[in-house]
This record gives sequence, C-alpha cells and structure tokens, in this order.
Amino acid sequence: MSDSEKSATRRGFLAGVAGAAAGAALPANAQNAKNLPPNVADWTKQLGEGVGSKPYGQPSKFEKDAVRRTVPWLTATPESSVSFTPLHALDGIITPNGLCFERHHGGIAEIDPNDYRLMLHGLVDKPLIFTLDDLKRLPRVNRIYFLECAANSGMEWRGAQLNGAQYTHGMVHCVQYTGVPLKLLLEQAGVKPAAKWVMAEGGDAAGMNRSIPLAKALDDCIVAYRMNGEMLRPEQGYPVRLVVPGWEGNVWVKWLRRIKIGDQPWFSREETSKYTDLMENGKARQFTFVMDAKSVITSPSPQAPLKQKGFNVISGLAWSGRGKIKRVDVSLDGGRNWRTARIDGPVYDKACVRFYADFEWTGEELLLQSRAMDESGYVQPTKDALRKIRGVNSIYHNNGIQTWALKASGELENVEVG
Ligand code: MTE
Ligand code: CO
Repeated sequence: MSDSEKSATRRGFLAGVAGAAAGAALPANAQNAKNLPPNVADWTKQLGEGVGSKPYGQPSKFEKDAVRRTVPWLTATPESSVSFTPLHALDGIITPNGLCFERHHGGIAEIDPNDYRLMLHGLVDKPLIFTLDDLKRLPRVNRIYFLECAANSGMEWRGAQLNGAQYTHGMVHCVQYTGVPLKLLLEQAGVKPAAKWVMAEGGDAAGMNRSIPLAKALDDCIVAYRMNGEMLRPEQGYPVRLVVPGWEGNVWVKWLRRIKIGDQPWFSREETSKYTDLMENGKARQFTFVMDAKSVITSPSPQAPLKQKGFNVISGLAWSGRGKIKRVDVSLDGGRNWRTARIDGPVYDKACVRFYADFEWTGEELLLQSRAMDESGYVQPTKDALRKIRGVNSIYHNNGIQTWALKASGELENVEVG
C-alpha cells in the first residue's frame, strides 16, 4: 500500500468514526441532549469532588462492566472456586490488580505480614527462615509475566460452551512482579548435590503444594511480594507468592510458606489426581508444566459486540510459555484466509502481547479467529488438531484457536468451525 493510499484509508477511517455534527439527532447512546455540543455540559457547571476524597482510587462509576465474574454452576463452594478476568473490557497488556482472575482451593488466607515466615529446608546445607522484611532487604527484580490456569478454556474441550472471552479465556492475567529470584535464596541455603526437585507449599487452608524441577527454580522463578508496584493483593497470595514464568498457574503457589528441596517429586494431590491430562487411551500425562502459545480476540467478542458498521478494530491478547510471541494472525472467515495482526506495546518473554487488526465491517456475518506463533516456531493449533492428539477427556491445557461468529446485528457468539 502506498503512503497516499494509507492516508486515504486513515481519512476514511476518521470520517467513519467521527460522531454526529452539532445540531444532529441525539446519538443512540447519549442520555441527555443538554450535555451535548454546543451546550455546556452539567459537569462543567459545578465544582467536582475535592482532592483526597478517595484515599484509594476506584474506576469511574460508569465502568461497571469491567469486573471479575464467576460461573456459579462451575464449582460447589466459593472457597474452592474461580473468578474470571474481564478480558473483553481491557486493553494493553497489564491486568489491573483488582481485575486479576482468582483461583483458590481453600479460600483467601489472611496473613499478618509480621507473622509471615518462609521456610527453606530439605537437601540444603543450612535451613533458613525468612521474614517478609528479610525478603525485602534482598536484591530484587521486576518482571512482567502472564499467569494462566491450566484449566483455562477447560470447559470447551467437547465443544463451544461459554459465551464470552471472560469465561472462555479469563483465567489469565499479566502483571509486573517485584521480588527476589528464588535462585538467590537457594544459594544462601546451599543446595546439596543430590537435589533435583523443590516443593512449594502454600499457607492457605488448602496447604496447596507442587513439585518443581530444581533447574526451573534456579532459572527464572521469583519469590514475589509486589504486583504492579503495590503489595500483592490478598487474592493473589499476600504477602508472598511464587512466580513460575510460562508454567501452569497451579505451580505459582500463593501465600508461600515453605520450600523444601528433595531428590524426587512429592506426587502431591495437585500433580496426580489433578493437573494431569487424561489422554484418549486412558493414560494420563503428568507434569505438563509449560503453557503453549495461545491467543484470543477480546474485542469484538460476545460481551463486547460491534456497535457500528464501517471501520472497527479487532483487538486481542496472545501469550506463550515458551518465550516471546513472534506473530499473531487474524482470520475473518473461520481460518481460510489469514492476515498478520499489528502487535502494539512491549513484547516481553512469557508475557501477554496486545494485537490489533483494523477492518471495515459492512454488516456481513464473519467468523473471527486469531492464531499465535512464538519464537520457538510453535503455532497455536485448531481445536480439532488438538483433539486428534489429546482426545476430549482433558480438562487442562486447551490452547486451541477460538472462533467468534459475528452476526448481522453486531452480536457475537462462541462457535466452532469444522
Ligand atoms: N496457591 C495456593 N496456596 N492455593 C491455591 O488454591 N491456586 C493455584 C495457584 N496457587 C492456589 C495457589 C491455581 S490453580 C492458580 S491458576 C493460581 O494460583 C491462580 O492465581 P491467581 O489467583 O493469582 O490468579
Ligand atoms: Co489453576
């Protein structure tokens, strides 16, 4: 495309999105014509609320849609349950702290930071106990990573189930963590030569614990106490959680109380009865830690319908546990034709990237899909390709390509294409 074509497109785009001119009829979504140009709006005629009226700021009261949601029939109790990130209502790559999905097996532990301790023992020269202040005095790092629950999209194995990116893909968030590299703590304790695995255990009522290979612990794991600058939220493991970049959310132990070093895995409940992948032949895959490349169009999507014909922007998220996202493709016809989306914003290792594809909607029905590729060369598979290998008994690790059917009304629906 030449420059002039580009600017012509851009001019066309602006003409397409600019609202009604002064004096025109009340636009469909306007509540009160008196607030519209050329009138002086209500909010200009009076002083606003004073500075300091909210010691901790909240979103505008008009943004009520951007909240975590649950699916009540999914779990028996709220203590062992999940809430979903409102992906359809967000942009960029960072998830606001109050909107990060939560997954707990025994409710949210309330830990007094003064009574908090982290124990490090097992196959080490010197067992250690750290207070929160001890951890905060050690050299720290800042890293942006996605966290995806292995069960994200788990309800979709046997066909399209839930209507909304929040529900099909909302068990993912991406924030900046601040904390101490686990390697540093292990070095302080002195790991014995026979050591091969570490066990991380939570201090919540579930006492959730997972075995992690020592090599990963020494590579990029972080004992984190901050997210997006502020202290971890109680829901996310206050005051300390383990960050295990690119690996399934279950191993990111929250309310971290203990790390034990051993020479073999512990075969805990969460790595035997749960978080294993039951295959077609009845055997189960174990320790499938890495989250493969995945993407989803967050807007338009069932909770974010198209409001107008003409120029519109497709927007979505992509991530990979194997490294950086290299490319994202978008299809409007259910995967027959693809074009490369524009990635905008930072592209970090094992973090979400934001992609966009501008398009002109003439009101026709479309099948919207996105497909992620990572730097290892891995390409996000179709759901059918995944089922050929995995069968349909699985719950976890469903990274198949999502399809949204766009209808003439602008509404969208979760569907599958053959
Ligand atoms: N850690 C403890 N101690 N208890 C838990 O129930 N849930 C795990 C993991 N760590 C859990 C835990 C699961 S399954 C996931 S997906 C992530 O935490 C969710 O992290 P989040 O609540 O910050 O989104
Ligand atoms: Co999980």
